[in-house]
Amino acid sequence: MNNFNYYAPTKVIFGKGTEEEVGKLVKAQGARKVLIHYGSGSVVRSGLLGRVERALEEEGLPYVALGGVVPNPRLSLVYEGIALAKREGVDFILAVGGGSVIDSSKAIGYGVANEGDVWDYYDRKRQAEDCLPVGVVLTIAAAGSEMSNSSVITKEEGGVKRGYKNDICRPKFAIMDPQLTLTLPDYQTACGCTDILMHTMERYFTNGGNMELTDRIAEGLMRTVIRNARILRDDPQDYEARAEVMWAGSLSHNGLTGCGNGGDDFMTHGLEHEVGGMYDVAHGAGLAAIWGSWARYVYQECLQRFYQFAVQVMGVAPEGEPEAVALKGIEAMEDFYRSIHMPTSFAELGIAPSEAELKELAHKCSIAAGGKKGSAKVMREEDMLAVFRLAAQR
Ligand code: NZQ
Ligand code: ZN
Repeated sequence: MNNFNYYAPTKVIFGKGTEEEVGKLVKAQGARKVLIHYGSGSVVRSGLLGRVERALEEEGLPYVALGGVVPNPRLSLVYEGIALAKREGVDFILAVGGGSVIDSSKAIGYGVANEGDVWDYYDRKRQAEDCLPVGVVLTIAAAGSEMSNSSVITKEEGGVKRGYKNDICRPKFAIMDPQLTLTLPDYQTACGCTDILMHTMERYFTNGGNMELTDRIAEGLMRTVIRNARILRDDPQDYEARAEVMWAGSLSHNGLTGCGNGGDDFMTHGLEHEVGGMYDVAHGAGLAAIWGSWARYVYQECLQRFYQFAVQVMGVAPEGEPEAVALKGIEAMEDFYRSIHMPTSFAELGIAPSEAELKELAHKCSIAAGGKKGSAKVMREEDMLAVFRLAAQR
């Protein structure tokens, strides 16, 4: 097992009705004025925003609210949030929504707590020294941002989607009531399950060390998500399945499933971020559309892990050549994606990049990665282009 740091400081409050505790939780953080940040309307329609506002009022906590976050959250709204928070003397940000709202909240937190342009952090120009504290009321199980150190923002100019990681942005608390996810459109539920799986797969397909416990946790998580994603496809109102998926979403991206791997892969995420920036697709669907092409491109250089995945996660019989078993595992995963109506190619995702656009995607991806990325296989710009071409040809 490789050496590792595991840091998961977020307090988790999980279960039915837990959002009622939000006022007390914010107060316990010592907040004096709160920015409630939310998305494009689902929390207004469900009545959750009103309940959160009342809970703050009951604790005598003043607040301002800023909605309008969209999937692939935009830099322009982050700037707006920073200006509003500074003007109003906000000292705590409450994200009510999913990964996009949480990431936008983290970015506003960086912008308020530091001088200069917040995009510098996402552009790899400098490191943030501080971040306003962020709390979360989660409404979708997917990105894992409620416990992660990461924030992903899209700069409209040039369609550039970039992530920035820093432990200081990890949320102080995350309220997770699976009932809040019952209103999700089926497509978002499936995108969320895909993203959750991918966060563990990015840590599993590595050429790192020997990790027995981490592997069993990872495999158990992946099997659980696959099983419950199928249940939710057939019955979106199943509370138990919603709860399993929601908890998996946090554990999949808080570092737990990568302990001892010597470094994650995250190449599929790197490739998807470029596609999301240019075509504004849902993150989970973008990942599903790329993963099979990536896996076929790299599996021979990470054969033991792909073999283990096929047998332990996808239930492939360990018979015949390891390569054939590994390939069956990849095919089984793609069959699963199709079974929950996720795409497995660019055509199914609904995009048709030209050869010039594929080259632009690969070039931007290589710049974002600082030249190379990956562990299953270390990928450079020509490898990134090869995977994009595969996804475009299928
Ligand atoms: O905006 P509203 O109206 O709330 O609608 C949202 C949005 O359209 C809707 N939704 C959320 N909860 C709902 C609901 N609709 C009905 N009922 C509910 N309870 O779902 C749509 C998607 O929401 P979004 O927040 O975009 O989803 P997700 O959590 O998948 O976040 C995606 C973003 O997170 C980034 C992605 O790249 C993408 O930008 N990621 C962030 C990570 C992180 N910070 O650690 C890691 C991930 O790998 C990912 O890159
Ligand atoms: Zn993701």
